[in-house]
Amino acid sequence: MEYVLTATKNEAKAGSYYDKIARLYDLTFKLNGYGRSLDQYFALNPLSLTRGARILDAGCGTGLLTLALLRAIRFPVRVTALDLSATSIVEAKKAVSQSADRPRDVNYTQANVLSLPFADNSFDLVVTSGALEYVPLQEGLDELARVIAPDGHLLHLPCRPTPASAFLEILFRFKSHSPRAVLQHTERHFRVVHHYRFRPLEVIGWSKSAILAQKTLATLTLPATVE
Ligand SMILES: C[S@@+](CC[C@H](N)C(=O)[O-])C[C@H]1O[C@@H](n2cnc3c(N)ncnc32)[C@H](O)[C@@H]1O
Repeated sequence: MEYVLTATKNEAKAGSYYDKIARLYDLTFKLNGYGRSLDQYFALNPLSLTRGARILDAGCGTGLLTLALLRAIRFPVRVTALDLSATSIVEAKKAVSQSADRPRDVNYTQANVLSLPFADNSFDLVVTSGALEYVPLQEGLDELARVIAPDGHLLHLPCRPTPASAFLEILFRFKSHSPRAVLQHTERHFRVVHHYRFRPLEVIGWSKSAILAQKTLATLTLPATVE
């Protein structure tokens, strides 16, 4: 698969890798109860969105988070599901058309999270889970912040360095960013609304948390050494 348009060799590697393992990823995350944990998260933390809201799922993979969004939001919205891996997008399309009652709420784009093909301030909400671990954190968050409208939100489910994520890092070839770096880089553009910990019995909580943040207008300048 060619990724010459927007991705450097490093980023393209992740796209090609997911072209090969999209089904394995999907199965692993279905077995570990990820979808149920997402449903529980959205039930406890309803999103503040209105009809027709513009949502980007950045690094949508096989569509597990996109599907959870559609289950949680009971009115029409406009979701863009974006990924570098063409195979993952095909799987996401299939999953949404088979399970969601509003497949027409979703459109699909093959692109790089580091150079999103959207104008500034294009989205009311950007969700991202498991994709920023493949790119330099600051560049990734800068680019996501660029496309979020003022007062819009970012829902980021970062991977934390734990024994469980060490196993996932090998299986899926990524590198978790330090929680300190995630918070500090988030605070360059956003006010953190909450930092949610999944309950200990939820497998996803062994490697992930959820940060909801609202875009602020001022960008904080940080010393260059955070990571
Ligand atoms: C661990 S999976 C997460 C999928 C999905 N967000 C979920 O929650 O199940 C990571 C996804 O990020 C995608 N990805 C990695 N680097 C990317 C990049 N630079 N731009 C866009 N997508 C990327 C991969 O192709 C893969 O589908």
